[in-house]
Amino acid sequence: MNTTMVLDYRNKHILAPMVRVGTLPFRMLAADYGADITYSEEIVDHKLIKCYRKINESLQTVDFVEKGTNEVVFRTCSAEKYRVVVQIGTSDASRALAAAELVCRDVAAIDVNMGCPKSFSICGGMGAALLSKPELINDILTTLKRNLSIPVTCKIRLLNTCEATVALAQMIEKTGVAAIAVHARKVADRPRDPAQWDGITEVAYAVSIPVIANGDVFDYDDFQRIKTVTGASSVMVARAAMQNASIFRAKGKLPWEDVKREYLRKSILWDNDPKRTKYTIKQMIMEHSCLELPEGKSVNACRTLADLSRLYGEQDYHKNILEERTHLNNEPQAT
Ligand code: FNR
Repeated sequence: MNTTMVLDYRNKHILAPMVRVGTLPFRMLAADYGADITYSEEIVDHKLIKCYRKINESLQTVDFVEKGTNEVVFRTCSAEKYRVVVQIGTSDASRALAAAELVCRDVAAIDVNMGCPKSFSICGGMGAALLSKPELINDILTTLKRNLSIPVTCKIRLLNTCEATVALAQMIEKTGVAAIAVHARKVADRPRDPAQWDGITEVAYAVSIPVIANGDVFDYDDFQRIKTVTGASSVMVARAAMQNASIFRAKGKLPWEDVKREYLRKSILWDNDPKRTKYTIKQMIMEHSCLELPEGKSVNACRTLADLSRLYGEQDYHKNILEERTHLNNEPQAT
């Protein structure tokens, strides 16, 4: 392994894991605007271990494709190899390891989701369900750490008391993880409840590994503010990035309409799943306008990337990309 490229978790601005949003085009978009580290959406280990690795020559990507369904479960490319983190949803150490081993050659680090409060996660013993099972956390993280040559991290939520959160963080630190992300909300909190940054302060004070602060970062200035307030090393942002990925620009946000168009272009370039592109564009619209207005209704009616391209006047770009891909596919292969 090239040790000079091992991910350093200090002083980083990080795109948070977001289901349906954090696919390759969105990660590349965030990185273009200045994100240092970009997380994938959570991928459940059961699903990842059903995949095989495939080089996609025409897109110049590495795809992890589910056997049987042919669904692309994770797509990445060499440009993001040293900054992309795959987040795994798991409740079992050996399954987590099998999933991580499949992708570890192509990514910078593996993260374990220990914060998702959705019933789908909890019922499967994943996400926030892990927070009450320290032995299982220890088993999963030490197994990953022992067997992988890339960094392993996890993302937790606050527990009901500061003491409990600190004890958990210290136990996690002992497993040898490279960093710990703390979403400053408790499991029962809703996204609209204010993030409790003091919970992060307690953890940052109690451990020596980098702490990644997460929760209620809305503007570029908040990156420094949350670090100053909490003593965390790095900062992770989710919703504000989904609404306008140019939050990572030191010079200030760009108009969201421009960011949305750039996202669509990147979705076309990387042949993103149209359902995910549509979902992400709808999230952007919901924040800045309303889905009941004509634009929202038109996006809702789209089924394919071609539909979305027509809607936003990007049909020439779409056509050119398709032609380039066909051209590439027809080129004689080097022997
Ligand atoms: C999330 N979040 C999340 N967290 C996680 O660990 N894995 C995931 O896959 C997801 N998926 C996800 C999807 C969407 C659409 C949102 C809005 C959020 C939670 C997210 O990473 C973050 O912890 C919280 O949103 C708090 O950060 P912000 O939004 O206050 O910056």
